[in-house]
Amino acid sequence: MKVFISGNIAPIGLKQLEEHHIEITQWKEGRQITADELIQACQDQDGLISVGPNKLDADFLNACKHLKVIALHSVGFDQVDIKEAKKLNIAIGNTPGVLSGATADTAFLLMLSVSRKAFYLHKKILKGEWKNYEPTPELGIELNGKTLGIFGMGKIGLEMAKKCIGAYQMPVIYHNRSQNHEAEKAIGAKYVSFEELLAQSDVLSIHTALTDETKDKFNLDVFKQMKPEAIFINTARGGIHNEKDLIEALEEGFIWGAGLDVTNPEPMQADNVLLNMENVAVLPHIGSATVETRNAMAEIIVKNIVAGLNGEELPHQVG
Ligand code: DGY
Repeated sequence: MKVFISGNIAPIGLKQLEEHHIEITQWKEGRQITADELIQACQDQDGLISVGPNKLDADFLNACKHLKVIALHSVGFDQVDIKEAKKLNIAIGNTPGVLSGATADTAFLLMLSVSRKAFYLHKKILKGEWKNYEPTPELGIELNGKTLGIFGMGKIGLEMAKKCIGAYQMPVIYHNRSQNHEAEKAIGAKYVSFEELLAQSDVLSIHTALTDETKDKFNLDVFKQMKPEAIFINTARGGIHNEKDLIEALEEGFIWGAGLDVTNPEPMQADNVLLNMENVAVLPHIGSATVETRNAMAEIIVKNIVAGLNGEELPHQVG
């Protein structure tokens, strides 16, 4: 059986694929593979391990007739046309659960960094602008007792909430399509309407999938309904906030700050104005980028691929 890998995965995954006698071809060009190159590479492959944001749309799926299974190197699956894959009998697997802690850590890191202007002040030192000790300018804000709003209370949202409660005793409110009784019982999170979430959150952290419903959900109109001292955090998908509107909301003071691990498009260009804003912290989509999490993801990917090649239900099947 042949499997194409469109990027790097943790070595433990490669070793396990070899132990299953799977013939691997790997993209090693050090850049994201293009759509045409991916179609070309997958022509005679039985499986694909998809690393990165490549669109696995109807055109791609129909052009790769041999594919039985696609294992995504992500929990998110917004890049795949799930309906078409189902129609073509191509099983799609993702990596849920194992990256919740690392992704929530990233959201927490951004929240704290924004609250103390850490990225901006670090850049000032690099530019030789640390001249003397000044007690008043460029002050941050404290998080203790502030209200955390979670948009999308799934596994990652719950982890973020637990960290914020543990560190800063932050009361937690959330908005979801449906109530999460487990989260309410575990941490006393309170379900609120979307409007209440916007009006009451001091920190609003996004932990939902990118769908037609959530695309551009955080736009100027929405930012205007948030507190002027609110911090907006997005570690989910860049398409959930409108970047132009976010910049305007920050410039106009509709919100106080923003921390992003995801942008739209990715990668973000080096001259993006967000990168020089005082109350903004941006990371290059590193939510799950720890040794432990990437190893765990690679092991799930191998399980998904092996099951799919054997015509079995995937341990973590999407759709
Ligand atoms: C995920 O797992 O969805 C991460 O954001 C990587 O794409």
